[in-house]
Amino acid sequence: MILCSCNVLSDRDIRERLGPNPSRRSVKALFRQLGWEPKCGRCMRNILTVIDQQQAASATDCSGGGSCDSCHADELAA
Ligand code: FES
Repeated sequence: MILCSCNVLSDRDIRERLGPNPSRRSVKALFRQLGWEPKCGRCMRNILTVIDQQQAASATDCSGGGSCDSCHADELAA
């Protein structure tokens, strides 16, 4: 499904580029890093949803080794 019509980016494109355990701050970095230009911004909410889903998947995969955001939830909340 196309999430960003300005840059013709699908949810799959975005998931592949986010990598494991992305940060919500990754949206601007993602655009910058790949040379995409956020234009209208209508896609931001959907991209954040994809990031949230990716984070949830990473947390589910956590083995408790202290390397995921869930393991550092107290630090992130501070
Ligand atoms: S839809 Fe992504 S910048 Fe316009």
